[in-house]
Amino acid sequence: MEIVICKTREEASRKAADMITALVRKNPKAVLGLATGSTPVLMYNELAKDVKAKKVSFRQVRSWNLDEYYGLAPTHDQSYRYFMNENLFRKIDIKLSNTHVLNGLAKDPAKECKAYEAAIRRAGGIDLQVLGIGSDGHIAFNEPGTSLNSRTSIVYLTPSTIKDNARLFFHGRLDEVPTAALSMGVGTICEARKVVLLAFGANKADAVKGMVEGGISQFCTASALQAHNDAWVFCDEAAASKLKLRKYYAWRSATKLGSR
Ligand code: PGA
Repeated sequence: MEIVICKTREEASRKAADMITALVRKNPKAVLGLATGSTPVLMYNELAKDVKAKKVSFRQVRSWNLDEYYGLAPTHDQSYRYFMNENLFRKIDIKLSNTHVLNGLAKDPAKECKAYEAAIRRAGGIDLQVLGIGSDGHIAFNEPGTSLNSRTSIVYLTPSTIKDNARLFFHGRLDEVPTAALSMGVGTICEARKVVLLAFGANKADAVKGMVEGGISQFCTASALQAHNDAWVFCDEAAASKLKLRKYYAWRSATKLGSR
């Protein structure tokens, strides 16, 4: 796992966008795994700038998102499909028909999840997966106590995630946040050939510490990425503040990025 520590979240978002832009320039038909949440928004804006400046085109890119609230229609303004359309897809030149988000209204969630995994496999697997991290160390909606081999399935949110998400979305209304979601599993995520995880702010410092320097444990599902051989964490100084070896990671990643 490589840890890139930046002064600001803007700088970290730009560096992460550089990695995605470089990958899509090299492979215009890349398969991307995408994430929602407040964290990737700045990076998505950077990608939109790159498209506008004709540095890259997403016309042939296909994407699969990590998760969707169970029970929300794609048109619901708090659904992740809606979020993606607003925060990325309408800002870049990707074809909407090439973008995939789990159907939160699926009558048979198990069937929906199985078909989603099959579609990813048929596309050749995910070349690069974008991730945020929850303050409890989750990736996608894989809460503490989820098997590190889990596959895409219906999952249940912890009270802390419901609280985090109510603060940012749902106008702070706890009772409006769905308690279940359809989510890619930890095992599914770890199969991506490259991972770009973003983490900003002091409220992510414990989660980042657990992910990077804790043991691999289902109590912090992001820690499964320790066993991935091309996972990049782009964070600001606040999110990295509890890492014991942060100076070393910063130096090592700068050396590696410089030699790319
Ligand atoms: P956030 O959520 O980007 O809104 O902090 C991240 C996550 O829960 O994965």
